[in-house]
Amino acid sequence: MFHVFPFLQIATVFLGVVHAQIHPSAPARYVTLPSLRDQAAIVDNWRDERLENIPVLLNKYSVDAWLICQRENAEDTLWWSVKGATEYAPHRRTVLLFHTNTSSLAGQPNPMRWVDNTGDVWAELTSIFKTYKARRIALNTDKEVAFGGGLHVGEYEALAEELGERWLDLREVNEPMLAVEYIAARVPGQLPYYRDLQETTWALIGEGFSEKVIAPGITTTEVTDFLAPVMDVEWWLREKMLLLNVTTWNHPRVSVITPDSFPGWAGTKNVIQEGDLLHVDFGITAMGLNTDVQHMAYVLRTSENETDALPGLKVGMQKANRMQNIVLENMQAGKTGNQVLKECLDQMAAEGIQGQIYSHPIGDWGHAPGAVLGFTNLPTFVPILGELPILRNTYYSIELYAYHFVEERNETLRFRVEENAFWNATTEKWQFVYGRQEQFHLVNATRRAETRPLFVVQP
Ligand SMILES: *[C@@H]1O[C@H](CO)[C@@H](O)[C@H](O)[C@H]1NC(C)=O
Ligand SMILES: *[C@@H]1O[C@H](CO)[C@@H](O)[C@H](O)[C@H]1NC(C)=O
Ligand SMILES: *[C@@H]1O[C@H](CO)[C@@H](O)[C@H](O)[C@H]1NC(C)=O
Ligand SMILES: *[C@@H]1O[C@H](CO)[C@@H](O)[C@H](O)[C@H]1NC(C)=O
Ligand SMILES: *[C@@H]1O[C@H](CO)[C@@H](O)[C@H](O)[C@H]1NC(C)=O
Ligand SMILES: *[C@@H]1O[C@H](CO)[C@@H](O)[C@H](O)[C@H]1NC(C)=O
Repeated sequence: MFHVFPFLQIATVFLGVVHAQIHPSAPARYVTLPSLRDQAAIVDNWRDERLENIPVLLNKYSVDAWLICQRENAEDTLWWSVKGATEYAPHRRTVLLFHTNTSSLAGQPNPMRWVDNTGDVWAELTSIFKTYKARRIALNTDKEVAFGGGLHVGEYEALAEELGERWLDLREVNEPMLAVEYIAARVPGQLPYYRDLQETTWALIGEGFSEKVIAPGITTTEVTDFLAPVMDVEWWLREKMLLLNVTTWNHPRVSVITPDSFPGWAGTKNVIQEGDLLHVDFGITAMGLNTDVQHMAYVLRTSENETDALPGLKVGMQKANRMQNIVLENMQAGKTGNQVLKECLDQMAAEGIQGQIYSHPIGDWGHAPGAVLGFTNLPTFVPILGELPILRNTYYSIELYAYHFVEERNETLRFRVEENAFWNATTEKWQFVYGRQEQFHLVNATRRAETRPLFVVQP
């Protein structure tokens, strides 16, 4: 299939691009994070700032109290966004009660917290409900939204037995948007650190997708069946993260892009060769924040004195960049994910771009709560999660691919990119936190041969 794509038209459209959406001019560096002690203080401050919003959130959804009930190692998903930095699993049975901070509970800690293994908590809770006159009590029982459905069934049974008809049957409500809004909301202080984590993610790709790590004909994307386990790019990334004091929520998936290497949940198993178009999908985790980035690299045919990626590949990248702009232009708080998805697909059709969008919120989790824009298997409409409203003050991972027929290779390839965006309160728009990939990472084996013996791959 050959698309005669009007390249000049793309170039014209690019003039309207928001300035922040550019490929950073300086190479990304590995950023040093604060000491663990300092990180804990910073992360706890962010948590406290987010908790301040609880009464507003409860009032928004007309909920008087929000009850979280969990046992050690069977915790509610919400726990991970409420706990302190030096806490891990909740101890014993940990009960949290979020309230509107009015009447009898004004000035009480919010949430109130019990760590119980005697059953005393039930009498105290019942007595609080009596004096507080809670009419609508939210429990995390949602069937579809994971973040609003973290109440384990055994805990639900315990609550039903202990609080009985008066406090549960009559007043229990399911309001998954409480958890979605609380967990998804960002505070301004997070942004500089998130930017640093993006830079470290880029630096990891910059080194992993270079001749420092890749020797064409030897290095693999992941260990192959037919080669002794020499260093491969996926596990190089994992080992390097340890040295950078970050971890991950998503094992790196490194692929050689071919017409059929998609969706590639496990990467491909290839010996990397000259002329390959490489792809990586991964993110890092630190300070309660997660990144999720996809970039592409080109392995120069240095044996043929090649000095740059093929022109057809560059046009494919430009189409993917154009799609990123289309998504950022259409994303508006208050619209549903499906609305924005449809607007983007319509605009792509009008511009003659073929491709797919599958973008998602990111933050406390790699796949954070909130409206999604497509899934790989649901390209035009997503029930439930696509019907949620897009929330201000959240981060999004703009994840998509553009199809492009690369004439030099006689192949239609998917140009797959992903970058993380924050909500700018001034423009009321999302913009990329660090920038976006517009140029291929290049693997230059000539440089490698000059600087080190071919068979030594140093972490
Ligand atoms: C990782 O932590 C160690 C121990 O604190 C420190 O020596 C090292 O510099 C850190 N590395 C980076 C890249 O921040
Ligand atoms: C709760 O109310 C007290 C005063 O009664 C106030 O100092 C505190 O900031 C409030 N907390 C929240 C989370 O609104
Ligand atoms: C690459 O360049 C070298 C040095 O200029 C030259 O000898 C060689 O023939 C070139 N190879 C190809 C495939 O063009
Ligand atoms: C590849 O490395 C060689 C040796 O350092 C250098 O001369 C050449 O300019 C590099 N090519 C590119 C495209 O960077
Ligand atoms: C391009 O690929 C198609 C099949 O995908 C094949 O039929 C055609 O002959 C190829 N063209 C060239 C110039 O190799
Ligand atoms: C938000 O957008 C405004 C207007 O373009 C810009 O001046 C500001 O720097 C942006 N905020 C951040 C954090 O980049």
